[in-house]
Formats: sequence, structure tokens, C-alpha cells
Amino acid sequence: MVEIKKGLEDVYVKETEITYIDGQLGRLYYRGYSIFDLAEFSSFEETSYLLLYGTLPTKNELEDYSNKLRKYRTIPDNLETFLKSLPTNLNPMDVLRTSVSYLGMLERGNDPDTQIRIIASIPTIIAYYHRITDGLEPVEPSEELGHAENFLYMLKGKRPTKEEANALDKALILHMDHEMNASTFAAIVVASTLSDLYSALVAGIAALKGPLHGGANYEALKMFMEVGDPNKAEEYVIERLKAGKRIMGFGHRIYRTYDPRARVLKNIAREITKNTQYETLYEIAERIEQAAIKLLSGKGIYPNVDFYSGIVFYALGFRPEFFPTLFASARVVGWIAQVNEYLKENRIIRPKALYKGEVGKPYKPIDER
Ligand code: CMC
Repeated sequence: MVEIKKGLEDVYVKETEITYIDGQLGRLYYRGYSIFDLAEFSSFEETSYLLLYGTLPTKNELEDYSNKLRKYRTIPDNLETFLKSLPTNLNPMDVLRTSVSYLGMLERGNDPDTQIRIIASIPTIIAYYHRITDGLEPVEPSEELGHAENFLYMLKGKRPTKEEANALDKALILHMDHEMNASTFAAIVVASTLSDLYSALVAGIAALKGPLHGGANYEALKMFMEVGDPNKAEEYVIERLKAGKRIMGFGHRIYRTYDPRARVLKNIAREITKNTQYETLYEIAERIEQAAIKLLSGKGIYPNVDFYSGIVFYALGFRPEFFPTLFASARVVGWIAQVNEYLKENRIIRPKALYKGEVGKPYKPIDER
């Protein structure tokens, strides 16, 4: 008897020392450190170092690493020309996927500097295309600013407030890694053939694009916009579920309780939207959450990372189509860390499919069929 594990549920493909998820208690740890502490006290630079190299950096290590991240923000001129040549209505995840592939044509290494260069250049690609589609000139990265601060600076052309930079910094930390999800597995499948790192990351971006994975943040915000009024939230949830549709940003294969990332993002969303034009969106989200928990918590379905992240990104000035690219800009760190760990004891991924068709059919020439 062959047991088929659809969706590879509960199948382990490697041991890891990178990320631990406690799906029952709703806890997440990077290299043993709680995501709650990292979101509160750390930075994109420090947490990405932790994920890539396994320990929290010393002052000198952090300075060296951060300097490299700053230095590598600039993208090649021909990639900038390419971005400017594109139609302005493309899916930004397609643009990011193709841009990473473009960079991969120009260089193919997988040395530590290449890895930092990819992490550093992704926000530049996203911010450039965002501004191009807004009919604006791209803003060159600044070597003076931190990772999240510079990202928002390139988006808006002016320095963000401390609160805005902090909000993005925390949101990126929360998205950085999540053990063996679909996009990480896709990246590992490619890397396991000993293809190059860029190709592995292109696969990761391609998998993350789907609405069941990284595309759910956009879908969740669309729901909030569709509802329009907090008083209509409960009715909307009931009708949506009755129609057999899912509540986007709810449910998770591993978490059977509230996703810890959603907890932190909810607080960030509340703070960043307070007394702004986005406050109503936050109220709608909160009311949808209450109504959906009433109906779905019995099945262990609660908000996931994508429920509140879209509101945060939107309030920071990103257009909804770009949300999955922000997820990718952080998750690229996890993909690289997980690929590096897998390659230490590489074995090509080669599962099996159980054949259910016929065998030995006689071949008929085309005019006899
Ligand atoms: N709304 C309503 N019902 C749901 C939802 C939801 N969001 N998620 C799962 N269910 C129900 C589903 O209908 C099924 O019910 P039943 O047993 O009565 O048929 C049951 O829960 C199990 O669903 P499943 O699809 O077998 O669960 P899964 O573990 O395969 O799916 C999921 C996980 C994330 C794909 C799913 O919860 C979902 O589609 N959520 C909405 C999309 C979303 O928010 N995705 C982001 C995931 S977190 C970030 C990331 O990893 O990228």
C-alpha cells in the first residue's frame, strides 16, 4: 500500500536549526529567539544576519554586514533601463521574478556577498517599478539610511518618519522565514539540482505569488475595501462563508491558533492607521476578524500573517498589487538561509507519483485514430 501525502502535509524534508514554529501555542522562533523579541528589539539588518549566519552579530559584525547591505543597494543600469521599458500595468511579482532572473543572467555566484547583494537590491527593484508605474522618476538608494528607512525613502522620495520606518522594519522581520512553506520548498527543489541561487530564488518568488501563499495580503485588503463600512463586516463574513468562499488572511497549515506574526502586525496596523484616512480599514479588519473567529475558530482557523500586513503596507504608501513583493523582499533572507542549510547535506529532491493509467497500449498511426 502506498500512502499519498497530498500537499506533502507532515512530510519532513530536512532537519533545521533556523526556524521553529509551535503551531499549537502560536509561537515562532528564529534561531531560538522569539519573534516577539526580535520584532520589538531587533532590526532587518540584525535579524537577517541572525538567519543567515546563525548567531546575533557583534557590533563590528553588524556594522560590516550593514555596510555591505547599503553598498549593494544600487542596481545595474541595464536593469533600470529594463524596468523603465516595461508596461506600467504588470503584476509586480512578475516584474520582481523577472528582475531577479535578469540579475542572475549577469552573475551566478552563491558566495556570501552575492547573497547580500540580492537581499539589498530587491527593495530597489520594487521601489523603482512602483515609482515608474506612478509616472515618477526612480529615487536612487541612499547609503546613509537603514534598510527599511531607505526602502520607504526610495518609494516616496523623502525620508519617512521614525514610526513609518519602524513599522516596515518590524513587518519585514515578521515575514523573513517560516520553515518549510511552499516557496521555500520550491527554492530548495531548484537548489537541490545544484542550479544557481538566482534560479532557486526565482522559483521561490514564483511560488510566493499565489493567492494561497504570499498573495493573500492583497486579497485580504481587497476584502476590507469591498466591505467599506465596519457595521457591514459581520454580514459580509456570513455571506462569504455561505457562498463557500474563504476569508483571506485566515487559516494556516501549521497554526491552529492565532498566528504570532498577525498579533504583532495587528498592533502595528492599529498604531500606524490611528487618526489617518486608513483608520476605517483597520476597524473593518478588526470587525471581520471578530466575526470570522466566531465562525471558524472551532476548526482552528484564525488570522495569519497576511490579515493585517496589507493594512500596514498600504498605510506606508505601497499600492496593494505590490504587497506580495514586500513579503518576497523579506522572505528572500529565509530562502537563502534554508537553501544554504539544505546544500550542506544536499540530496536532489525526487519524489514519486503513483501511476494510475494503463500500460502497453498499441501505438496507432495518426490517420487511424
Ligand atoms: N476561510 C474559511 N475556511 C477556511 C479557511 C479560510 N481562510 N482556511 C481553511 N478553511 C477551511 C476549509 O474550507 C476546510 O474546511 P472543511 O474541512 O470543512 O472542508 C478546512 O478549513 C481545512 O482547509 P484546508 O484548505 O484543507 O487547509 P490547509 O491547511 O490546506 O490550508 C491555507 C491552509 C492557508 C491554504 C488556507 O487556510 C487558506 O486558503 N487560507 C486563505 C488564504 C490565506 O490566507 N493564505 C495565507 C497563508 S499564511 C501565509 C503564507 O504561508 O503565505
